[in-house]
Amino acid sequence: MKLLVCGKGGSGKSTVSALLAKSAAKRGYRVLVIDGDESNFGLHRQLGMDLPEDFMNYFGGKKKVLELMRTSGKYRDINIFDRKWRFDDIPREYLSARDGISLLAVGKIHEFGEGCACPMGVLSTGMLEHLETGENEIVIVDTDAGVEHFGRGVERGCDIVIVVMDPTYESLMLSKKIEEMADSIKKPVYFVLNKVDEESKQFMTASIDSAKLAGVVPMNRAVFQACLRGEELELQLPEIDALVEFLLKGGR
Ligand SMILES: Nc1ncnc2c1ncn2[C@@H]1O[C@H](COP(=O)(O)OP(=O)(O)O)[C@@H](O)[C@H]1O
Ligand SMILES: [Mg+2]
Repeated sequence: MKLLVCGKGGSGKSTVSALLAKSAAKRGYRVLVIDGDESNFGLHRQLGMDLPEDFMNYFGGKKKVLELMRTSGKYRDINIFDRKWRFDDIPREYLSARDGISLLAVGKIHEFGEGCACPMGVLSTGMLEHLETGENEIVIVDTDAGVEHFGRGVERGCDIVIVVMDPTYESLMLSKKIEEMADSIKKPVYFVLNKVDEESKQFMTASIDSAKLAGVVPMNRAVFQACLRGEELELQLPEIDALVEFLLKGGR
């Protein structure tokens, strides 16, 4: 199963991705976390890992992929994956691994003026479309904020779209846009309310399609402190376990 986690900046995409990965791994699943956010330098810490080398380098680096995009005249669907991939096909030097979880980072922006993140989008799209999961394997893609990845078509290869929503008007608006786009490509979409108290949970639940509510993660001080300190998220939250259970059943 391939889960794609999206939402507004700061809503908790990386936090929820890391907690989901840990909960699924505890249940015995092999989990591959794909860090698809070129600007996030925190997810690997939340997983208690080092940041792996950019997977982009396997394909010759960002400049090479950009060049392929230019010469093919395409900004999507450039053929860098020429076959289906399994978990074990991913070269280990591009993975950090621990306790049943592997982390792959598509690519980061490292230097001033190095250019746009289009090659990262192309790589995420290709990766997700070509990766095949076995019965006991889960892919969790932590995306960059907003909807650019929808514009690039990254979602085409996933099975479920998860929208992480913090208690803000912006998240409510964005969730509607994402819902529309996911519907248009016939991908199931589910909402996770994050950092909520009872009052905001009530308000948000009334504003979304309740059949699509997959889980609620309260504002949690320990999570907040771990995020501040760049520490591993070692907590086991019943709300996250329930969310994993729900998603593994394919939602509903
Ligand atoms: N459930 C939670 N409880 C408390 N704080 C949270 C929770 N989820 C996220 N946060 C806070 O929100 C911040 C942003 O979360 P993060 O996962 O990095 O967002 P995103 O990946 O969507 O940009 C974290 O650094 C942390 O301070
Ligand atoms: Mg993030």
